[in-house]
Amino acid sequence: MSNAALAVNAKGLTRHFDNGRVKAVDALDLEIAAGEFVAIKGPSGCGKSTLLNLLTAIDRPDGGSLHVFEHDIRTLDAAGADAYRSNDVGLVFQLHNLLPHLTAIENVQLPMMGRKKVKPNERAAELLTRVGLEARINALPTTLSGGERQRVAVARALANQPRLLLADEPTGALDSQTGAALIDLFVELQRDLGTTLVMVTHDERVAERANRVVNMLDGKVVG
Ligand SMILES: Nc1ncnc2c1ncn2[C@@H]1O[C@H](COP(=O)(O)OP(=O)(O)OP(=O)(O)O)[C@@H](O)[C@H]1O
Ligand SMILES: [Mg+2]
Repeated sequence: MSNAALAVNAKGLTRHFDNGRVKAVDALDLEIAAGEFVAIKGPSGCGKSTLLNLLTAIDRPDGGSLHVFEHDIRTLDAAGADAYRSNDVGLVFQLHNLLPHLTAIENVQLPMMGRKKVKPNERAAELLTRVGLEARINALPTTLSGGERQRVAVARALANQPRLLLADEPTGALDSQTGAALIDLFVELQRDLGTTLVMVTHDERVAERANRVVNMLDGKVVG
């Protein structure tokens, strides 16, 4: 696989905590192709969220190399990391993290504010329609169901057309049926938009839908 086709290229990636006592990510090797949908599985504490934090440049590696598309994550300065996160990465968490005093459409507009050549209002309405919430664009998060809030969070993550969409247990707080519908949405979006999708999950159904399952144990990829 040529490097140009890689969304993620991690070699010997390492992040330890507590003076090396906690080897959260430990000499991890991982390649993810552009456009691929990868599910990351593994027991609690094996380093999944730490890996996502490295991929978003929220946290920095102690060792090894990490490239995401053309970015060398280790050499990004603070401004470069901010720009990278805002232009290239979309994030969805287990809990939606929507701002409670803003409506659905205002939450989705937020990442687009201050951008040239974008009409945040129109694009946010389009995105909310895309995730099936056209009737609830002016709703406050507290008046939405858990599944609807996650859909708003997905729309917000897509605001700036990220090449890499990362999700950490996005169905973890949802009932089975709502979770299945959210997975369907992720799969559709990944196919339609060509976005690379990396989803941390314990949900067996996600593994079935992903192009590939990456199993982690003790900070490493084990198959
Ligand atoms: N900031 C930190 N300081 C110290 N230790 C940390 C820090 N962040 C994570 N760890 C430790 O690193 C290990 C990996 O944590 P991580 O959150 O990546 O696990 P995880 O695979 O996401 O688990 P879960 O499935 O429970 O979410 C754990 O032992 C955790 O306690
Ligand atoms: Mg985690």
